[in-house]
Amino acid sequence: MGLKRFDNKVVLITGAATGIGRATALRLASEGATLILADRNLEGAEKVCAAAVEQFGVRADAIAYDAADKESARRMVDSAISLHGRLDSLINNAGIYRRDHFANQTGEEWALVFGINLESVFHIVQQALPALVASRGNVVCTASTAGLDGIAYAAAYAASKAGIIAMTKSLATEYGPKGVRFNAICPGRVTTEISTGLAPMENQDPAIMVKPPKLAGKESGSPEDIASAFAYLASDDACFVSGSILVVDGAQTVG
Ligand SMILES: NC(=O)c1ccc[n+]([C@@H]2O[C@H](COP(=O)([O-])OP(=O)(O)OC[C@H]3O[C@@H](n4cnc5c(N)ncnc54)[C@H](O)[C@@H]3O)[C@@H](O)[C@H]2O)c1
Repeated sequence: MGLKRFDNKVVLITGAATGIGRATALRLASEGATLILADRNLEGAEKVCAAAVEQFGVRADAIAYDAADKESARRMVDSAISLHGRLDSLINNAGIYRRDHFANQTGEEWALVFGINLESVFHIVQQALPALVASRGNVVCTASTAGLDGIAYAAAYAASKAGIIAMTKSLATEYGPKGVRFNAICPGRVTTEISTGLAPMENQDPAIMVKPPKLAGKESGSPEDIASAFAYLASDDACFVSGSILVVDGAQTVG
């Protein structure tokens, strides 16, 4: 059997216990990746590791990690790198979604959303950079179409994802000369724990509801639809792709 795209590659994925992170972990495992899965839901991450080992025979380890705590982020990266002495790809995917009428949103909520969705990525990337420079590795972040187009009732979320996009482009510029690629993916509506069970809020304006995708037969994307985009950007197939923001939304946000 020929080499797979992630044979001999060590990949760290945050937020890998469920949803897009879980699907990405399993997709990369199917292509030979050695996985390190970091999540506040340690039990969930351990289950994904067990599935990756059983189905694909790869090495997979789970690490407890709280994106709301910067010391946890730095400790997690150190433990991850010490497992194999190297890091080839870092996938920053952990995130939370909070919504309310803007007038009701509090400073505490903004700080929480920014801390988990954006500031944690600063701490993780800074800690991981020496290993990524050594491996001429890459970083792929989960942004959102909300970070490009905004989204009603979730200004903090949208702004945090816009921050991810700006950080990705800035670091692609700064670290390109050192051989490290930075890209981000903007999923549209995807069926995961974040997005299910979101009933309309009181006094929600139906005129500004999020539009569905335009592809036939697709009410929303699946985690696997997004995982295949991660597999491309994290692989050497994307060796000339850096500073790119890849929208994966079934044409939800165009037209
Ligand atoms: N589902 C969508 O429609 C959609 C659209 C665009 C972007 N996204 C983004 O995709 C990413 C993954 O979300 P998902 O849709 O798979 O939802 P999800 O809730 O299934 O996954 C989020 C993961 O992040 C982890 N997590 C949350 N807070 C954490 C913390 N403080 N510390 C460590 N881990 C934490 C969760 O345990 C979970 O494993 C998020 O960044 C989200 O913003 C999702």
